[in-house]
Amino acid sequence: RRLTTEVPVAGGRVADVAFAFDIDGVLIRGGKGLTEGTKTLRYLQKHNIPFILLTNGGGMHETTRAERLSNLLQVNLKEVDFCQSHTPFKNLKDKYKHILVLGGSDDSVRKTAEMYGFPSVINELDVIAKRGTPFWPFTSFTENDLKQARDFDLNQPIEAVFTYVDPVRFGLDLQLVMELAQSKNGILGTVSEKGDEGPDIYYSNSDLVWPNEYPLPRLGQGAFASCCEKIYNELTGKQMKLTKYGKPHKVTYDYATNILEAKRKALSIPNSPKEIFMVGDNPESDIRGANAYGWTSILVRTGIFQGADNSSKYPAKHVAKNVWEGMRWALSRHV
Ligand code: G3P
Ligand code: MG
Repeated sequence: RRLTTEVPVAGGRVADVAFAFDIDGVLIRGGKGLTEGTKTLRYLQKHNIPFILLTNGGGMHETTRAERLSNLLQVNLKEVDFCQSHTPFKNLKDKYKHILVLGGSDDSVRKTAEMYGFPSVINELDVIAKRGTPFWPFTSFTENDLKQARDFDLNQPIEAVFTYVDPVRFGLDLQLVMELAQSKNGILGTVSEKGDEGPDIYYSNSDLVWPNEYPLPRLGQGAFASCCEKIYNELTGKQMKLTKYGKPHKVTYDYATNILEAKRKALSIPNSPKEIFMVGDNPESDIRGANAYGWTSILVRTGIFQGADNSSKYPAKHVAKNVWEGMRWALSRHV
C-alpha cells in the first residue's frame, strides 16, 4: 500500500485520523524549520486532517508561539494549533488567587499566566526587588532587570509555584522553590513547623534533556525538577509534593484530545478519529506518553533519538526517518 504525495480523496478527506506533533526535534531543530515539517503540516491542512502541535516547550503565549512557528515553517498556524507544556495550566486559573511563576529571561511567562486569566502573578525578579540581593547573592541583577519588577504584598500567601519553562536563573529558582516548599502557607521568609504547609508546586514538563544545534542533548526543566526534589529531600528528609504536566503525563494528553475534538467539529468532520498518531523524537516523553494513552506512536530520527533500531525502553509502534515519512506511514494504514 503505497501513498503518493498527492492522494486522490473523496470529499476532501484522506482518512479519519488525527495527529499530534512534537515540535523540537520533529518540526524544527536548533531554531530552524525542517523542510519535512513544512511539507507535512501543509499536507494535513490541505486535506483537512486535524492535528495539534504538542510540545514540552513554552515560555510564551500560544499566539506568540504560533506567529514564530508560522514564520519558521512558512505554514499558517494559529493559537488553537498548540498545546505547549504550560497550556493546560489555564484550567487552574480559578483555583489560585496569587501565584509565583518561574522560567525564562523576561516578562513573557508572567504575561502568559496573566493572559490565561490568573489574577495575581509574581516572578523571580519581583522577589529579588522586594527582598534584596541577600535572598540570592550569587547572581548579579542589572538595573534594567529590576526595572521590570512589580511590587507585591509580602503577606499575601503564594498559593502555587509554577515552573512554566526551563529556568534561566537556575540557582535563584531553586532557592525560591526550596524556601516556599518549607514555608508557612506560602509566605516568603517563614518556616512551617509541620513542613507541609507550602504552596502547590507544578512543573510544566519533566524532560531531563532536549536537543538543539549542539551535538549532545542539553539539560532541560526535568533536571531542575529533579534537583528540587533531591535537595528538598536532603533538607527535610521528606518527599516533595509536586505535580508534573507535559508529555508523558496524562493531563496533557487529555487536554490535547479535547483540542483535537474541537478541531474535528470546527472542520465539520462527522466521526471521531479512528486512530490518533503521536510523532515525536523523545522516547521518554513523546513515545512513552502516547503508548500509555493509547495513541499510535511514531519515533523520528531528527532529534533526541539516534539509535539504530527502536527505543529499547519505550519502543514506538513505528520508527521513521523524519516527520514526513512518519505521516506517510500513518496514512498508509488507512488507505
Ligand atoms: O523540553 C524542552 C522542549 O524544548 C522540548 O520540546 O517540542 O520536543 O516537546 P518538544
Ligand atoms: Mg522533541
